[in-house]
Amino acid sequence: MSLAPARALQLVHQIGCVTVAARTAHVAATRCLLQALPSVARLHASARCRSEATGSSAALKSPRFVTTPIFYANAVPHIGHLYSTVLADSLKRVYELQGYPTVFSTGTDEHGQKIQQAAEDSAVEPGVFCDGISAKFKALFEAANISYTDYVRTTEPRHKRAVAFLWTELKNRGYIYKGEHAGWYCVSDETFYSQSQVESIIDPKTRQPQMISKESRRPVVWTTEENYMFRLSGFQDKLLHWLEANPEAIIPASQYRDVRNTLRSPLPDLSISRLAKRVSWGIPVPEDPDHVIYVWLDALANYLTVLGYPWTPNNPEPNLRAAWPAHVHVVGKDIVKFHAIYWPAFLMAAGLEPPKRIVSHAHWLMGHEKMSKSKGNVVDPERLLKTYGVDAVRYFLMRDGGIANDADFSERAISQRYKHDLAGQLGNLSLRCVAPRINPTMTATTTPSQSSPYHPAELALLTKLHALPAVVAAHYDAVDFASALETVFDAVAEANRAWVAAEPWKMGPTDPRLRTAVYLAMETVRIAAVAMLPVMPGKMNEMLDNLGVQRDERSWANVGVGKRWAAGPEGKRDVALKADVVPPFPNFKQKK
Ligand code: MSP
Repeated sequence: MSLAPARALQLVHQIGCVTVAARTAHVAATRCLLQALPSVARLHASARCRSEATGSSAALKSPRFVTTPIFYANAVPHIGHLYSTVLADSLKRVYELQGYPTVFSTGTDEHGQKIQQAAEDSAVEPGVFCDGISAKFKALFEAANISYTDYVRTTEPRHKRAVAFLWTELKNRGYIYKGEHAGWYCVSDETFYSQSQVESIIDPKTRQPQMISKESRRPVVWTTEENYMFRLSGFQDKLLHWLEANPEAIIPASQYRDVRNTLRSPLPDLSISRLAKRVSWGIPVPEDPDHVIYVWLDALANYLTVLGYPWTPNNPEPNLRAAWPAHVHVVGKDIVKFHAIYWPAFLMAAGLEPPKRIVSHAHWLMGHEKMSKSKGNVVDPERLLKTYGVDAVRYFLMRDGGIANDADFSERAISQRYKHDLAGQLGNLSLRCVAPRINPTMTATTTPSQSSPYHPAELALLTKLHALPAVVAAHYDAVDFASALETVFDAVAEANRAWVAAEPWKMGPTDPRLRTAVYLAMETVRIAAVAMLPVMPGKMNEMLDNLGVQRDERSWANVGVGKRWAAGPEGKRDVALKADVVPPFPNFKQKK
């Protein structure tokens, strides 16, 4: 079927999908329209077909396992930690919306010298110290509507069991040996650096020469220890091969390239234990209590712990092996090496598959500088949540946070997003179509008028709405939330323009054009709300409640014009609006 784009657009909407034949014509017209749309829509048409083909039935799909890093229990959470977590939560909710069963874990990383030191400084026993900090992370995640299915702490018995088992596997398979390890050790990074990874600087405070890590800029000291070593050197080719076969294994592409370049030089073996007399706060090496297991091997294993590893009949934990390998590990850019080199190597050595994807995000800066307690420029997430509300904070983080490039935090920017996008565009549109003067019967209009032509501004809106599902799905696929949200808000702005152009307030109550104007505004709000459920679950669900949209009408299959009912609108009628429509984004008073 070949149609001129304008004709196709008319057809797509005026058919109204009343009969099966009309729906077939609707599909053909939509296809034709997609071919005529700008290149971005064409580019993503295949992604759309893919997402449509996947439907929304969870039963047929294999589970997707999404993780956040586990957070050091040495200090209270800040906005950077929340960013990692909201990104992972939004991704997990995208998969859920698409009908995948999901497992989603987060938690705290509680062993090692850094935590031991922080506890000593506060004159508290390390276990008690970790209880306090871990509870703070948990409370923040509750407040931020993080839908984790498991919260793991590395001090839990189930985790210690998993780590000891993994160690023994690596040992039995011949990947661990005892050796002398000398190197530049950094306490705060919990890591040894080689000569080429450190440099000498003059400490600005003491005016004395000081060796520091080039990467983290933190002090290092020359340390010699008898350690257990992991044969990382043997994994160079396997890791390169894994990356070459999986070009999207690390996102963004710049991080993928960096890791691949690192893997082009020989990999040294890795020290994976510390002397217990130096670091007592850790998991002992099985059968050698003079050593504790390196904190990164301990921490990375959390991703197996939450799936009930070891998957042996005597492990009392639920066996979630079907969710391995992880679909996505979300990590900050500073910990890519551990997740993209060490972790896949440990897994391969243990006979397990490496993760499918590692998504690395950039950092939030404050005044273009790294946030740090000593500079006093750390953003407190709790205060932000109280001032702007959880969904506005989540929206801001996902819209303005960086994946490849760092983003600078500013209170002005979040307040602008609230006023302009959320209250000014989306909130405004959602209230326009339910205003008593426009909609005295309080009806959710679910089909356009069959008897009046569209205003040109409404046709422009329809073009955007038709392209939206494919484009947003492709951005979600590429973990590009900023572009996905921009696409949705672009359609919302177009809907506000169409409303103003059509001037429905000048129409009489029986004017068929009024029905179309209200229908288009409501369709835009509905499509936008379902598409953004992963990012703003609270407010988007409220907006859908306002429109009388049922719970089973809120899946990815419902994102699209006329898809309030995924199976088509046959036999469905207009429905009542919620009796007491709540303004979704009221004006707020900014607390200083
Ligand atoms: N415990 C390790 C992770 C072990 S995972 C097996 C760790 N913890 S952390 O608390 O230091 O950092 C956790 C996450 O927070 C990291 O992904 C890190 O990149 C992120 N962020 C810390 N500061 C940040 C910003 N300023 N901005 C964005 N994210 C930042 O590393």
